[in-house]
Amino acid sequence: MNPVVIYSTKGGNTEKIALEITQELNCKAIKISGESDFSKISFKDFDLVFIGTWVRGGEPSPDMLSFLKQLNFEDSNRQFALFMTWAGGGKSDVLTFNRVKHLLEAKNQRLLDDCYKCLGKTFGLARRGHPDTQDLAEARKWTRKMAYLPEKSL
Ligand SMILES: Cc1cc2nc3c(=O)[nH]c(=O)nc-3n(C[C@H](O)[C@H](O)[C@H](O)COP(=O)(O)O)c2cc1C
Repeated sequence: MNPVVIYSTKGGNTEKIALEITQELNCKAIKISGESDFSKISFKDFDLVFIGTWVRGGEPSPDMLSFLKQLNFEDSNRQFALFMTWAGGGKSDVLTFNRVKHLLEAKNQRLLDDCYKCLGKTFGLARRGHPDTQDLAEARKWTRKMAYLPEKSL
C-alpha cells in the first residue's frame, strides 16, 4: 500500500486530522491552496489517496473544489477516502461527500463510502475545542480501517 494525504484547511481544523492520518500511516501530506501547482502531483504511485476538506456552504472548500476539477489521471488504480471537518450544519456533510464523489467518478476514480467527519471550531465559540483528542483517536481508527491495517492495541 502506498497512501498519500491531500488536504485544504483555512483555520487549521482539517490540518489537525490530516497530520494525524499522516502520522498513523507514516506517509506524505500535501497541503493545497489557491496557489498550488496541481500538475506537479503524480498519482501513479499512490493507491490510496486521503482527501481532506473543510465544509463551506455545503460544499468542499474552494481550494479542494478547484483541485478536484483540475485533476488528471492516467488510470483508475487507486481508491480515495474522504475526511472532512464541519460545524454540524444540516446536511452539508452529505452534500459535500456527494460533490466529491461525483467529481471523482467523472474522472473514473473511486471514492470509498466510509467517510470520516468531525466537528471543527468555527465562528465565535461554536464547536470550541474540536477537533479534540477523541476526534483525533477516531481519525486514527478510521485511517487503519481504510488502509486495511489491524487495530492497534492501546
Ligand atoms: C465561510 C464558511 C462557511 C462554512 N460553511 C459550513 C457549512 O455549510 N456547514 C458546516 O457544517 N460548517 C460550515 N463551516 C464551518 C467549517 O466547515 C468548520 O469550522 C471547519 O472545521 C473549518 O476547517 P478548517 O479549520 O480546516 O478551515 C463554514 C465555515 C466558514 C468559515
